[in-house]
Amino acid sequence: MPTANTNYDEAQVPSYTLPETLLMENGETVADAAAWTQTRRPEILQLFQTQVFGEMPAALPDMRFVVTEEGQALGGRARRRQISVYFTADNDGPSMDILLYLPADAKGPLPVFLGLNFFGNHTVLLDPEIHLNPRWMRAEKKNGIVDNRATIDSRGCLASRWCVDEVLARGYGLATVYSGDLDPDYDDGYQNGIHPLFFKEGQTRPAPNEWGTIGAWTWGLSRAMDYLQTDTEVDRARVAVLGLSRLGKTSLWAGACDRRFALVISNESGCGGAALSRRRYGETIKDINETFPHWFCDNFRRYNDAEDLLPVDQHMLLALCAPRPLYVASAVEDRWCDPRGEFLAALGADPVYRLLGTQGLPVEVMPAVDQPVMGRIGYHIRSGGHDLTAYDWAQYLDFADRQLPG
Ligand code: GCU
Repeated sequence: MPTANTNYDEAQVPSYTLPETLLMENGETVADAAAWTQTRRPEILQLFQTQVFGEMPAALPDMRFVVTEEGQALGGRARRRQISVYFTADNDGPSMDILLYLPADAKGPLPVFLGLNFFGNHTVLLDPEIHLNPRWMRAEKKNGIVDNRATIDSRGCLASRWCVDEVLARGYGLATVYSGDLDPDYDDGYQNGIHPLFFKEGQTRPAPNEWGTIGAWTWGLSRAMDYLQTDTEVDRARVAVLGLSRLGKTSLWAGACDRRFALVISNESGCGGAALSRRRYGETIKDINETFPHWFCDNFRRYNDAEDLLPVDQHMLLALCAPRPLYVASAVEDRWCDPRGEFLAALGADPVYRLLGTQGLPVEVMPAVDQPVMGRIGYHIRSGGHDLTAYDWAQYLDFADRQLPG
């Protein structure tokens, strides 16, 4: 939430110098793809792991996938599959549920969009067969949440953000998981999500360089990917990851950490996502760490009011996705997310994309409102406010058609 200190004036953006994406820690410039892949990329990834999002553990050996339900939806246009992912041998232990829709009439392994949702899988479409998520939810009456639990009124309440019918009509599948299955979105000292599964003897919270809640959500996206790799109806080489806002920060981190994601989309991810922190426009590192102390690793607090000390900035997070297609989307009224900072980060990732032989971002100047640009990096700023809309989806589908051909 904006405070009296929030800057929304471009003239007040301080001057800053971005850390150099293509300068290695030994002082040498990255001259070719090998130096990027073998040296610079791991250096940058490690900085994000230890200073921003925290290090994440690998998958657990006893993880199991159980298909719990299959059926039809959308008057026969969609096939639905629900899968429980048990992280341990205990069915009552931590788990998450994947909802997967595939177009009923499409043949062969299909490309799929995967994203986390804010209020349960049952919110993405008014489909009575979707299991109503029984877990803790943020209290939002308008989304049918009562006493932090979903009610039947929350069925389909966020359908406008998912455009299931349109996605399927274009020949893609859609997979989603409730972020709260991995870690409920409040600061409880990391007791009620998946973190305790990984605590060492005597450990009660993640170390300063270990994952927070965004890390747990990201881990869940990779576990969903583990499942998608086993589903013979899914084209495992064409899975796109996307997310809005805090879940867009998460999709970027997932794209950076897990190169199985073939296309990465940030929908208004803002601070800690696609927006450059050094601009201090809209939400700042201090704002985010104070309001959401559980999202990042504890080390990230070092950079409260000290952005210039950060050894990375968010253009480097985007560059970790290179050369895979990347789309960054902003909204003009969403100043809290700093649209210009998101564009400048995409532009800052462009040299890495070009070094790796792709077109990168085809413009150097921020495009006008509702004028998408699409190279290997895509960008748009649409009219309206903070949301994931049919307009956004239309661009992602066009971008995926071009960048993820079958
Ligand atoms: C808050 C938060 C943002 C976040 C957003 C959201 O506004 O400050 O960082 O992106 O919530 O997730 O909707």
